[in-house]
Parts: sequence; structure tokens; C-alpha cells
Amino acid sequence: MGVCFSVEVEHKCPFHKGLDSNADDDDNQSNINKVSFVPPTPRTEGEILESCNLKSFCFSELKMATRNFRPDSVLGEGGFGSVFKGWIDEHSFVAAKPGTGIVIAVKKLNQESFQGHREWLAEVNYLGQFSHPNLVQLIGYCLEDEQRLLVYEFMPRGSLENHLFRRGSYFQPLPWSLRLKAALGAAKGLAFLHNTKTKVIYRDFKTSNVLLDSNYNAKLSDFGLAKDGPIGDKSHVSTRVMGTYGYAAPEYLATGHLTSKSDVYSFGVVLLEMLSGQRVVDKTRPPGKYSLVEWAKPYLAHKRKIYEVLDSRLEGQYTPEAAKVVANVSLRCLSAEPRFRPNMTEVVKELERLQDPKVTRPRRHSSHGTRPRRQSVGDCTAPGGGDPDAYPRPPPSLISK
Ligand SMILES: Nc1ncnc2c1ncn2[C@@H]1O[C@H](COP(=O)(O)OP(=O)(O)O)[C@@H](O)[C@H]1O
Ligand SMILES: [Mg+2]
Repeated sequence: MGVCFSVEVEHKCPFHKGLDSNADDDDNQSNINKVSFVPPTPRTEGEILESCNLKSFCFSELKMATRNFRPDSVLGEGGFGSVFKGWIDEHSFVAAKPGTGIVIAVKKLNQESFQGHREWLAEVNYLGQFSHPNLVQLIGYCLEDEQRLLVYEFMPRGSLENHLFRRGSYFQPLPWSLRLKAALGAAKGLAFLHNTKTKVIYRDFKTSNVLLDSNYNAKLSDFGLAKDGPIGDKSHVSTRVMGTYGYAAPEYLATGHLTSKSDVYSFGVVLLEMLSGQRVVDKTRPPGKYSLVEWAKPYLAHKRKIYEVLDSRLEGQYTPEAAKVVANVSLRCLSAEPRFRPNMTEVVKELERLQDPKVTRPRRHSSHGTRPRRQSVGDCTAPGGGDPDAYPRPPPSLISK
């Protein structure tokens, strides 16, 4: 696979890192470019596995930890395979009884998956060496015969996709303040990657790859398509076009030329999905609205027209100023010309300003000054309440890689 690494980031130590990074702590989220250790430069699969400092699990251990990959413990599904909930002992990492030890998420490669070993190794490679509050923690892996599995920290609130688009009693509309919090966390994750020495490009930024912890801190997961950025004076890396339609930048789709600005475009799409509560592509909408980006872009530039796009379920939760800033960030990220897109550090700065409740929350009862609020905004309370461990199984991704 020929991936060459030399990344200036804190080296990962499973579980110790979790304690150090204190992922639930908002104050820690400003850590975009933590530099403390230069890991060795892994070149081969053997070197990657040796240097990643992850736990190597046997298949039988993970089978036991997930109670034989019970269908009712499926947390989600994607192009790689299914993700199961399991339990292991915190110290020995051996399988534990449900409800004891620590909860893990185990991703198991489908034997018939068209993604495979390369994507599995990319996840081990990147998540095995990065440590950041906005990247999910990889605890270990399993490589045994044809089996390829990955073991992550469990993210109790599941994916952003479920919170934005699933309807049902558990998934109440995600309040404005939590959308902003998740957007900022995800932006910090991307900014961190783009600022590492090898300028990693994530390449598959979308709502199903953004996971939420119990406090709605966002973490990027699923590094199967991540790639080192261009080196030296190169402006881009040339790749096979991979990713997800709707989220992939137009110039990347057209040429296969990948830059960090491709991630910025995808971020703009997700921000627009968060603003509107609408999926990027949805053929159940009227024909002119199939493509959210095409339909919504003209409205984002106009202060008064933004409300055509905004999720009506958010009414009364934001100030016109905050809505304008978010719409503007999204619009700039969606620029057809990559050089007009901001970089992720700039995006983080813009979104950080909005975390101040004085800027983002209306003092009176309305977004336009007249309409009453339909719902109160509780900062870190589960919309709809309930046990965060008990979210229902989402359907397989609608748009595959
Ligand atoms: N660590 C985790 N904790 C909780 N749910 C998870 C975790 N990892 C993945 N999931 C769920 O599984 C889904 C698919 O995971 P993902 O890593 O994106 O798989 P794929 O590589 O197949 O796309 C996610 O959208 C999410 O709903
Ligand atoms: Mg995924």
C-alpha cells in the first residue's frame, strides 16, 4: 500500500490516552494541533501493526465480548461491515459480562465487502497513531485468517446521522446548540488531521462517520479512506475517486485530485444538513430539491432567505446573527472553486465564536422576533431523554461508498 508516515502528533497509548485527552471535557476541545511525539515511520503492514501500540485481539475474544456478534447488539452498518456492541475488562481486555468492565464497539469486515484489508489497515494506521479529543479512540484490532476487525471506544449517542435524520421517540430533533457543538467538534477533528505533518485528508466526511459521546462531543470515526496529503510542492494527491456521492467535492469527482479542500467541501455539506435537517440527496423531495446543495446554495447568501433553508424544528433556538454566520460558513465551504473555501482552522475559529450562548441564543421568544419557541434547548441533555446506550439499530447506509 506504500503509505509512508511521519506525523508529529502525540503517540497513542490505548486507554491511557483516553484519560489524558479527557474527551468529554469541552475545554479540551481547543486542542487542534497537539505536538508532543514523533512516532517512527511505518512502511509495511508489519511496521504499522508493530508501531501502533494497539491491543491485538483474537477472533474468539471478540466473539465472546460481543456474545457471538448478536444481531440485537448491532450499533450500525456501513460499507465495511457491521459494528457490534461488546464488553471487555478494563485492565486485562478479556471479554466481560454485559454491563461490566468497559463498553466497546467492534467493527467486523463483511466477507463480501468490497472494502477490505486496505481500508482496515488504513484505520489501524491513522487511528493507531493519532490522539485527539475529536477522533474516536481505536483500542485494538483483530487480524486472523480472513477476519478483519477493529475495536473502538463505544460512543454512547451513536452517529450524527441518526440524530439528524432518524425519526422516532428516541431521536428528537437535535437542538441548535448541540448541532453547533457537534459541528465545532467535527471541524476540530478535521483541522487536526489537516495540520499534522503528513496533512492527512479524511476523504469520507459525512454524518454517519461523525459519532457523539454522552455529552454530544463529536469524534470522527471510520478512517478507511483517509490518505496522506500532497508532499513537497505538489498541490494534490491523485487517487481513485472514493467516498460518498453528495459529499464529495466536485473537482475531486471530476479529476480524482484530492486536497484538504475536498474535506472542507464535505464539511460544508454536513453543515448544511445540520442547518436544514435535510439529507444531502433525497429523491422523496420535489424534483427541484433532490440535491440539497443545488437547491439551498442560492438562499444561503441572503440574510432574509436563509430561513427558507433552516430546519423549522429549530425555530426560536437561534439568533439571526448565529444563523447568518453558520449559513455563511457553509456557503464558503461549498464554493465550487477550492481556493475560495476556508481552511478548517478558519472554520473552527468561526464556529468557536458561536459557542457563546449570548451570541447564539435568542433572548426573546423567537427567531424572527415573533414566533414562540417550540422546544427548550437543554445543553447536554438527551433530546427525548432516555438511556443513551439504548438507541435503536439504524438502517444500513443509504448511500454506500
Ligand atoms: N465506536 C462506536 N460507537 C457507537 N456506534 C458506532 C461506533 N462505530 C461505529 N458505530 C455505528 O456504526 C456505523 C458504521 O460505522 P463505520 O465505522 O462508519 O463503518 P463503515 O466503515 O462500514 O462505514 C456508524 O455510523 C455508527 O452508527
Ligand atoms: Mg462509515
